Amino acid sequence: QRHRIAVIPGDGIGREVVPEGLRCLRAAADAHGFALDFVEYGFACAGYWQRHGEMLPSDWRDVLGGFDAIFFGAVGWPEVVPDHVSLWGSLLRFRRGFDQYVNLRPVRLLRGVRSPLRDHGPGDIDFVVVRENTEGEYSSIGGRIFEGTDRETVLQETVLTRTGVDRVLRYAFELAATRPRKRLTWATKSNGIAIAMPYWDERATAMAERYPDVVASKDHIDILAAKFVLRPGQYDVVVAGNLFGDILSDLGPACAGTIGIAPSANINPDRTWPSLFEPVHGSAPDIAGRGIANPVGQIWSGAMMLEHLGETAAAAAVVAAIERVLAGRPDVHTPDLGGSGTTESLGAAIAAEITRE
Ligand code: NAI
Ligand code: MG
Repeated sequence: QRHRIAVIPGDGIGREVVPEGLRCLRAAADAHGFALDFVEYGFACAGYWQRHGEMLPSDWRDVLGGFDAIFFGAVGWPEVVPDHVSLWGSLLRFRRGFDQYVNLRPVRLLRGVRSPLRDHGPGDIDFVVVRENTEGEYSSIGGRIFEGTDRETVLQETVLTRTGVDRVLRYAFELAATRPRKRLTWATKSNGIAIAMPYWDERATAMAERYPDVVASKDHIDILAAKFVLRPGQYDVVVAGNLFGDILSDLGPACAGTIGIAPSANINPDRTWPSLFEPVHGSAPDIAGRGIANPVGQIWSGAMMLEHLGETAAAAAVVAAIERVLAGRPDVHTPDLGGSGTTESLGAAIAAEITRE
C-alpha cells in the first residue's frame, strides 16, 4: 500500500516541527509495512508571499487535489504579511476549497504532562472538539460604510446553511455514538445571538432525536468556557460552530497542559478531496528558530492522518509512542513541558519508540 502525501511546512516553527512529524511517519510506515510518498511544497508561507504577492499559486487545487492527504505545519509571519491575509490566502482556502467541513481536535491529559488546573491528573480530561470549518462567523460578507466619519459602521454577516449545520452535527453525533460515554454537548449562545444560534439549537435538537443512545445537551459558550476550566472531565464530544470551536480548541489543549501537543484534522468526510492534518498551534514567532518547539502536536496530527488513510495499527503505535515518551522520558521534554529538551530530541525519541515497538 502506498499513500501520496503533500507536505507544506509553512512558517516559523512549522518548519521545525514538520521534519519531526515526517521522521515519525517514516518510522511508522517502515514498522507497519506500507509506503508514504512525500512531496514538499514551499507555498503558503511569508517567503512565498514576498516573492509572488500571493500565498498560493493559482493552480493550487490541481497541484494538491490528487493527493491522499495534506500534512501541514503552520502559516503566519505578521512582520511580513498580515495574519488575516496569510490565513485567508492559504489555510482557509484549503478548508473551503476541499470542503474540509469537520475540524476534529482531540484533547487528552496525558501522563507526564502537567495540567495548569488543580486536581486534574492523567485520564481526567478526554474529549474531542468538533468544529464547523467552512461557514459561520468566518465569512467575508460585510463591509465598512461612512469610513472616516463618526458614522463609521462595520458589518459582518454570519452564514449558517442547513446542509452546513446538519453535516457537522451528524458527524459529531456519529462520533459520540462510538465513544464509551456517548455524551455530546453543543456550544451555543442563543440567549444573545438571537437569530443564528436559535437556528443552530433547533438543528441540534432535531439531530439529537435521531441518536437516542447519545446523551446530548447544550451549553452557552460563556459557561462552557468556564466549565472547560473548572470541570473538563465531564465533556466527551463538544460540537461547535466555526468561531466558538476555534476558541474552545485552544482553551481545551491549554487545560490539558500545553497547546504544543494538540493535534487537529481538517476532514472532508465525503473523501472527494484530500483532508489536511496540522497541529492546533500557529507558527509561534516568539520561539521560532531556537529548536525548542514541541513537535508532539505535529506528530499526533500525523497519527490522525494515518488513521484517516486506514493505517489504524500504525496510527495507534504513534499515539502509544507519544504517550510512553511523555510519561517516561522527562529528559527530552521541551520547555513548554517544563524540560530542557529540543524539538529534535523529543521527535527522535518518539520515532525510536515507534521503531522499537
Ligand atoms: P501560536 O500558536 O503560534 O503561539 C501561541 C503561544 O504558544 C506562543 O507563546 C508560542 O510560543 C506557544 N506555542 C505554540 N506552539 C508551540 C509549540 N509547538 N511548542 C511550544 N510552544 C508553543 O499562536 P499566535 O501567537 O496567536 O500566532 C502566531 C502566528 O501563527 C500568527 O501569524 C497566526 O496567524 C498564526 N497561526 C496560524 C495557525 C495555523 O497555521 N493553523 C493557527 C494559529 C495561529
Ligand atoms: Mg485557533
